[in-house]
Amino acid sequence: MPDLLIHDLAEVATPEGTSPRRGADQRRVSRLRGAEVLCRDGRIAFVGEPGERRRLFGELPEAERLDGRGGTLIPGFVDPHTHLPWAGTREEEFAARLAGRTYQEIAAAGGGILSTVASTRRASEDELVANVRRRMDLMLAWGTTTAEAKSGYGLNRDDELKQLRAIRRATADHPVDLVPTLLAAHEVPPEFRQDRGRFVDLICDEIVPATAEAGLARFCDVFCETGVFSAAESRRVLAAGVRHGLSPRLHADEFADSGGAELAAELGALSADHLMAVSPAGIEALAGSGVTAVLLPGTSFFLMKHRYAPARRLIEAGVPVALATDCNPGSSHTESMPMVVVLAVFELGLTIEESLTAATLNSACSLGQGGEIGSVEAGKRADLVLLDAPNLLHLVYHYGINPVAAVVKAGRVVRRAV
Ligand code: NIG
Ligand code: FE
Repeated sequence: MPDLLIHDLAEVATPEGTSPRRGADQRRVSRLRGAEVLCRDGRIAFVGEPGERRRLFGELPEAERLDGRGGTLIPGFVDPHTHLPWAGTREEEFAARLAGRTYQEIAAAGGGILSTVASTRRASEDELVANVRRRMDLMLAWGTTTAEAKSGYGLNRDDELKQLRAIRRATADHPVDLVPTLLAAHEVPPEFRQDRGRFVDLICDEIVPATAEAGLARFCDVFCETGVFSAAESRRVLAAGVRHGLSPRLHADEFADSGGAELAAELGALSADHLMAVSPAGIEALAGSGVTAVLLPGTSFFLMKHRYAPARRLIEAGVPVALATDCNPGSSHTESMPMVVVLAVFELGLTIEESLTAATLNSACSLGQGGEIGSVEAGKRADLVLLDAPNLLHLVYHYGINPVAAVVKAGRVVRRAV
């Protein structure tokens, strides 16, 4: 594989390190003017001045070249919370929400997650693979190079495994890397409504072991929420996951304070996600724990909640903050991390630098991959995004457009905007 030299950049903007950035460190971003980046064997071999590169590596006549054209190079976006493998659409529900019905009312009437469960159960594995690939194409076009992807629309053993196999097949021949998560505890399916305890048993005794045995997931997630799974039920499911080698991460305190943040801290989860309704005690628990808060401002936006997670208080408490799309058909129908970064700045009150760290290094760390991806530094895998922007600030300053000029995955140019 030839070297790749990325030249004529106006700026390289990146957080630094291999562990989550917290507090004042979250906004410490390196912004190098006029640097070049050399990729060798899929990794970043050099970031620095052209003269220094020539001295260390020579003229590199055989190298492929990517002309930066005065743009800005950042790490590939890492999207650590998506629900990618679903079938069907819910635009009628969306229209009903626009007309004033709430997400919870629609769910209580049998719509919401359960409507996607019905269409996903009906779909073939091949159909799910095609759906996931289409969404990954969009992710790549908007600069995402790694994403987490959850099941959770099967809610029985065969259909959860079908979703996870679709994730595995879709990522096998696509530049975007998917990290699979079992979310069998996403909702209680209709056939167990009268006996939810048995559904939790089924997850712990059958679905988790079968998933682990097939090597189909890295994480186990639970929708820990008032009216969905209690903290006690969530603890049981996540403990079963841990027994079978699946690390815990949680949907925590999305709509009501349900003790999800405290549970994430207690279990040493890599992430607690959503946190729109996290309590002061929950923030305190997270602060002492090393859990990364994965915030999903696209969900507040799309559900028209006019209520966002307390991102500033989390950062001030020393909790590392990451960002994700929550890409799903009900509460946040987007694949775009640049859109999420814009919302993080305008609605969560993050600085542009904090948001960049949140969407790259901190999100990589929340997937346990901070040593491998998430920053533009020698030694890391060369997953990079070239922005058609003269500096980092334009990522938010010029909003509503796709800023991605090219995407590099493991040292190869895998996408160019024409
Ligand atoms: O993260 N909170 C639960 N699950 C998703 C919504 C899924 C859906 O509406 O289909 C979320 O918001
Ligand atoms: Fe979610």
